[in-house]
Amino acid sequence: MRQDRVYIETYGCQMNEYDSSMIASMLVGDGYSLTTGPEDADVVIVNTCSVRERAEVRVLGRLRHLRGLAPPHAVIGAVGCVAQRMGKDLLTVVRGLDFVVGTDSYALLPDAIDRARRGSTAVETAENQTVDYASRPRPLSASLCDFVSVMRGCNNYCSYCIVPYVRGRERSLPAKTVTTEVSELVELGMRDVTLLGQNVNSYADGSLDFAGLLERVNTVPDLTRIRFATSHPKDLSPRLIAAVAGLDKVCEHVHLPVQSGSTAILGRMNRRYTRDHYLGLISQLRESVPGVAITTDVIAGFPGETRPEFEETLSLMREVRFDSAFMFRYSVREGTAAATLDDDVPEREKIERLEEVIALQQSITTEINEGLIGTNVELLIEGPSQRDPSKLFGRTRTGKAVVLDARRFGSPSRSEEPASNAPRSIPRPGHLFTVTVNEASAWTLHATPVLGEKDLAGPTDGC
Ligand code: SAH
Ligand code: SF4
Ligand code: F3S
Repeated sequence: MRQDRVYIETYGCQMNEYDSSMIASMLVGDGYSLTTGPEDADVVIVNTCSVRERAEVRVLGRLRHLRGLAPPHAVIGAVGCVAQRMGKDLLTVVRGLDFVVGTDSYALLPDAIDRARRGSTAVETAENQTVDYASRPRPLSASLCDFVSVMRGCNNYCSYCIVPYVRGRERSLPAKTVTTEVSELVELGMRDVTLLGQNVNSYADGSLDFAGLLERVNTVPDLTRIRFATSHPKDLSPRLIAAVAGLDKVCEHVHLPVQSGSTAILGRMNRRYTRDHYLGLISQLRESVPGVAITTDVIAGFPGETRPEFEETLSLMREVRFDSAFMFRYSVREGTAAATLDDDVPEREKIERLEEVIALQQSITTEINEGLIGTNVELLIEGPSQRDPSKLFGRTRTGKAVVLDARRFGSPSRSEEPASNAPRSIPRPGHLFTVTVNEASAWTLHATPVLGEKDLAGPTDGC
């Protein structure tokens, strides 16, 4: 049995978080133990993101810094999207790096680490290596809310996006693999799963589509909530909308990145839908799924974006009234189709446009959340609130963060006895509760429990 310790630091999206947990399970299976800082690590792994220039610059800086923080004997390596994009060039960009393993080569990671520890640098970045999903190691642990990847890669080639180049072609995992992994995570305490893919709408296992996969995952016992990300508007199907409407565990929340409100810009982005098509999808979703929360991604300052085109994004946001949005200013990514266009929106203008979309979205989110004051919502308790540990933190089915004033229950962490006029059960992580919203901002809802109601589900394992 090895005594060696590995430290893993993760940047980027949920895919990287998922991959890091898979890498951790794999290395622990190989005899490593995990450590929480670089100072006592024998192996340091940074899972990198390449989606915007700033993300990449940040991660390169962090790799250089970690060389100084880790013990001199430790080996340091990059995995993930920058590793895949830069390959062996990363060894010269970051001096002292020992191994580079790309997004499709994680099965080769233990061997690359061994080679690095024997003194030779190791680079594994072949494209489209088949990750051996069948032998995906059993997860070590689970969070109450966790991720499961259902597909890898992307075939869409949106003109601004590096992801298809660093994540390879689209590949779906067998439904059996997905349901087994969800069940294993539920055994370890997960209750709320997010199924991940760059475009889950194109999931296919033989004739089983993503709606069919949701039907199967919906049958996993003791799982409470199912979410998914991301849906590409060009192929959000009526079947998927019906699955969100009809399957009890599938949450009323769809993340549907619009990117721009201008049909002309959408064309240049190679998104393959128009503003009208997008607005039609929003109507269908709202008709079929009452109370659905819709969130999005927006890019400001795409090459050639005129002020009137940008205003079409603002007007679409006012029309749709998204619950929330991730908003970015355009960043040129070398090798993408948009990198050949003239990046002609001045940086200052990009920043101002971004600030405008952020301000608009913030006011819309605040108004939507304030509209919830006085209503009852279902809350999955995740644990104590970080800001105020006397309160509890959880999320609604629509993904909104809620701080719950649980004093009416007595102390959630210590007392087993509820206060005299309180519901019988004390909320604990994994419990579902009906709560009344009594305050709201753009970021958080504040709520109190509905008196007389008890928890909707019993305590879960490990609570
Ligand atoms: N597969 C997902 C998105 C993955 S990348 C989808 O299609 O929606 C996450 C978000 O980053 C994108 O939705 C986009 O808004 C943003 N993004 C990607 N490339 C970018 C770039 N070059 N500049 C600015 N934002 C970008
Ligand atoms: Fe990038 Fe488009 Fe693929 Fe999303 S669908 S990962 S934005 S290329
Ligand atoms: Fe995700 Fe960043 Fe890679 S957004 S897919 S980690 S480039």
